[in-house]
Amino acid sequence: MRNRIIWHFEHGLHCTKRFSGRYETIVWFTKSDDYIFNLDPVRVPQKYPNKKYFKGPRVGQYSCNPLGKNPGDLWIFPNVKNNHVEKTEHLYQFPVELVDRLVLSMTNKKDWVLDPFLGSGTSVISALRHGRKGIGAETNKKYVKITHDRIKQFEKGSLTRPMNTPIHDPKKPAKSIQYKSDKQLDQINLFNDSRLDIYQG
Ligand SMILES: C[S@@+](CC[C@H](N)C(=O)[O-])C[C@H]1O[C@@H](n2cnc3c(N)ncnc32)[C@H](O)[C@@H]1O
Repeated sequence: MRNRIIWHFEHGLHCTKRFSGRYETIVWFTKSDDYIFNLDPVRVPQKYPNKKYFKGPRVGQYSCNPLGKNPGDLWIFPNVKNNHVEKTEHLYQFPVELVDRLVLSMTNKKDWVLDPFLGSGTSVISALRHGRKGIGAETNKKYVKITHDRIKQFEKGSLTRPMNTPIHDPKKPAKSIQYKSDKQLDQINLFNDSRLDIYQG
């Protein structure tokens, strides 16, 4: 096992007899020590990106990687609830940006991404967005159709459903947060933080 990753999100059922669940666990296994891990495409901004050594042989040089830091094993992305721009009829849909981090770090271009529990096809969409190939299995025909529809949307250059309801953003409560067109996303640049590169406020 390489990592146990916690995906934390803010919204969900409000339990009355226990604490409300606000995370999912992603467990990453590899078959051998020969495996893919691309850190650079998924780096996130450093807390102090311009910090430099002030003494010693490396004085004046950056003391942290200017490309950004390793995102760690606690990932915070909004989950797909009713007013999320990616929302489909599927009840347990993952956000594309969550799968993007897995696809970009654990596969190379032209690789296959297999999802045996495809749901609304988020993993295939993420694979296609980043020049990979996607394959999956799903027992519910309605969800298979949703996946096909999302692939068509991707091919048209946008995954955004026409929605007027913004995702709640406490800093800009009156503004809608929209997904950028996929044509604008040659590769998701997670380094320029944040969701602000993916969502436009
Ligand atoms: C948690 S959902 C996956 C959601 C997906 N990650 C997404 O973003 O849409 C699990 C899916 O697995 C499907 N499923 C359950 N048992 C299955 C099986 N034996 N073979 C294939 N799919 C199955 C369910 O219908 C459901 O859509």
